[in-house]
Formats: sequence, C-alpha cells, structure tokens
Amino acid sequence: MRVAVIHGQNLRLLGRREPEVYGTDTLLDVDTLLADLGAELGIELETFQSNHEGEILDFVDEASGRVDGFLINPGALTHTSIGLRDALLGVDRPFVEVHLSNTQARERFRRRSFLSGVATGVVYGFGVESYLLGLRGLAAHIGG
Ligand code: DQA
Repeated sequence: MRVAVIHGQNLRLLGRREPEVYGTDTLLDVDTLLADLGAELGIELETFQSNHEGEILDFVDEASGRVDGFLINPGALTHTSIGLRDALLGVDRPFVEVHLSNTQARERFRRRSFLSGVATGVVYGFGVESYLLGLRGLAAHIGG
C-alpha cells in the first residue's frame, strides 16, 4: 500500500506558527511520526508540501498513478479551492482530510470545506494525532 501525504499552505511554518492553535511540533516531527506509523502498518509514504495551489494540483495528478490514496491537510485551501476538490475527484483515489485544529470551533470562514463532502473521511481537532488517526482510517479503507 502506498499513500501520499500532502501538506498545503503554510504548514511548513509548523512549530513557530500560532503555537497556541497548532502546537509546537514541526512539519518534520509530523512526517517522522507518520513514517513510524507507516512502517508499523506496512504503508509506503511519500510527502509533499507546497504553498502553491497549482503545484498541489499537479502533484495530485502525478502521484495518483503510483499511490492508493491521499492524506491531506490543505491548510487554507480547504476553505477556498474548488480546483483542489476537482483534482482529488478527478484522479479517483480515496483521500482523508485532516486538520490540526478544530476548524468548526474557530472563525466562521473555516467552517466551510470544499473537500469534506467528497472525502472518504475527515479528522480535525487532535493536533498531530489528527494525521495519525487519518492515516489509520485511510489504510483501513484501502485495505478494506
Ligand atoms: C488547518 C486549518 C485551516 O483553517 C488553516 O488555514 C490552516 C491549518 C489545520 O490544520 O488546523 O492552515 O488546516
């Protein structure tokens, strides 16, 4: 089983970005925890981060031929990008949407996600654990 992990806009700032909201783990910490869980579950992982919507859309397309699914934290693209929704729908691979923070408990504009309605599952509010729960869920779905 092979899964691509996508970190969207501003996630490279983790560790120093609003730590009261997103915690103090860095993106490298997140990727290390995911790699450990991937090894435990027998999942090959590749990770990608970009702040650029088009680059993420291109990556979804290119990676879709070699992965069984996507684990994605789109950052702010969650709330704005119909293009990302269309890309993920277009490649016909399951994906799980994750967020560190509880987006439903924050500003009103964060309550809308263009992705949730077409995701296999969504996990939010558990900090780094959201990624780990999301990966477990995605693996169970793919392995199903
Ligand atoms: C986020 C929530 C988004 O609203 C925000 O724009 C982010 C991070 C999260 O992981 O909690 O960049 O996706």
